[in-house]
Amino acid sequence: MPIAAAIALGLGAVAAAGAPPQNVSYSAAQASAGDKLFAAKCSACHGEHLEGGAGPALTGATLNTLAKNTKLTVGDMFTFISQQMPLNEPASLTHDQYVAIMAYILHYNGYKTGVKPLTYAAATNSTTVVRSLK
Ligand code: HEC
Repeated sequence: MPIAAAIALGLGAVAAAGAPPQNVSYSAAQASAGDKLFAAKCSACHGEHLEGGAGPALTGATLNTLAKNTKLTVGDMFTFISQQMPLNEPASLTHDQYVAIMAYILHYNGYKTGVKPLTYAAATNSTTVVRSLK
């Protein structure tokens, strides 16, 4: 095998074992807006540091309780949040607010900010698996 090909394969393997593929992008401004919204609308039940309380933790090993440990995608989680949360007032936020909160949850769990802001459609359709990268 040519050396260049072996190196390319090697790097591919490292990337696969380390960070999962991230096909979801959000901006720093969205994550920051989401931080404030989460504190106001979600933290009473999910904790100030997403550690959980009346609602499940949204970080760490229990992040995917919704999917019962199957592969929860950003699309699954976003659809759930935008239709059913906050529990006491479902679907009460604007699309932009839900998108910002999703960006914050991703940011908190170690996903990197990207060039493109997250959109409602991209969040709904994202197949990126949600897990804590921290
Ligand atoms: C009044 C309490 C309460 C508030 C406020 C609330 N939640 Fe929840 N949340 C819950 C409970 C309880 C569950 C578990 C529901 C279930 O299992 O059916 C839950 C489940 C979830 C889940 C699924 C968790 C998982 O691991 O699969 C997500 C994601 C979520 N909430 C996000 C949010 C977001 C984002 C907000 C703010 C917009 C919010 N919640 C506001 C109580 C709350």
